[in-house]
Amino acid sequence: KIVPVIMAGGKGTRLWPLSRSSAPKQFIQVVDEKTLFQETLKRVADPALYEAPVVITNQDFRFTVAEQAREVGVTLSAIILEPVARNTAAAIAAAAFHLKNACGDTAILQLLASDHEIDAGCAWSDAVAIARDTAASGKIVTFGITPTEPATGYGYIEQGDALSTCAYHVKRFVEKPQLAAAEEMIAAGGYFWNSGIFMSRVDLLLSELEAYAPIVYEAAAAAVAAAAIDLDFVRLDEESFQASPDISIDYAVMEKTQNAAVVTSAFAWSDLGSWDAVWKLGDKDANGNVVIGHATVMNTENSLVLSRASHVAVQGLKDVAVIASEDAVYVGRLDEAQEVGKLVKALALSK
Ligand code: GDD
Ligand code: MG
Repeated sequence: KIVPVIMAGGKGTRLWPLSRSSAPKQFIQVVDEKTLFQETLKRVADPALYEAPVVITNQDFRFTVAEQAREVGVTLSAIILEPVARNTAAAIAAAAFHLKNACGDTAILQLLASDHEIDAGCAWSDAVAIARDTAASGKIVTFGITPTEPATGYGYIEQGDALSTCAYHVKRFVEKPQLAAAEEMIAAGGYFWNSGIFMSRVDLLLSELEAYAPIVYEAAAAAVAAAAIDLDFVRLDEESFQASPDISIDYAVMEKTQNAAVVTSAFAWSDLGSWDAVWKLGDKDANGNVVIGHATVMNTENSLVLSRASHVAVQGLKDVAVIASEDAVYVGRLDEAQEVGKLVKALALSK
């Protein structure tokens, strides 16, 4: 069976002011009743396919994780706690060392981002079954999404020779290209977006980390060896873990490995990374508006209006996002949605 490893330590700053440092994107309700993290837990709940999940997150979120798992009735096998944020390569390396001890070298891990909206129907279980067989044969498997535009916030996967039905070698992996490069790849064809979900045997994951990110590998090994176990919590050793560089798995391993495969994935997927993505995914009224929560619009087009707090009324605007949380309001053009992270940085500096 597959061991799900859920990565839930990111910041999600582009969804400010709903996503906050105290409650980042994965732990909030964006469009649905459940949080994105809870939806991720549900996605890996089929006992025919999956073992109990492991969550890796920052120590600040330990109670949020435990509470949100309890709310949806999921028992976690462990919650691995990072004392400092060192990005996904270190988080994944730590999870892999922990699971090498708990489940052995040949266990198959599925590494899942916790901040996506996915329609987990048959297309999901089909892709997972193909990925499991491909991973067992000695590949780090990515789940490829058919791209629709030259987005710069994703990894791009160039499809190589066929391995089996719906599984291919990866010729090249390019993390977050510049716009011109993204446009070239879209025009050329034969590329997928990286969904941010990976599947691999423990031993292969660790040997690729050792080869391409040795400092991350050493830091994670030491942090797990000196970890403190406290009920379900595995507290990584701070001094060891902070020696890891801050780098994502995409740059550290996926761009370099010669052993990657891609499984073409037909499930509906959205990164929900920014307000324009929330607008794209949302249910629209006759004027193309997505209105969520306490809000009213008039003479307004193609806009996203979302309020979790006071009533928001928008009149005579188009192509905007108006987002109200309990203590902050954001108003911006939807085509600037990728830049909200910069605004949040500037806000932090001006405090
Ligand atoms: N435990 C832990 N620790 N989790 C982390 C950390 C960390 O330091 N940093 C990020 N995460 C989690 C996030 O919460 C998210 O669930 C997942 O790891 C991916 O991190 P993001 O920061 O959201 O990555 P991204 O969206 O910029 O890029 C990745 O996902 C894209 C698809 O959404 C890459 O894999 C891209 O190639 C991919 O296209
Ligand atoms: Mg993301």
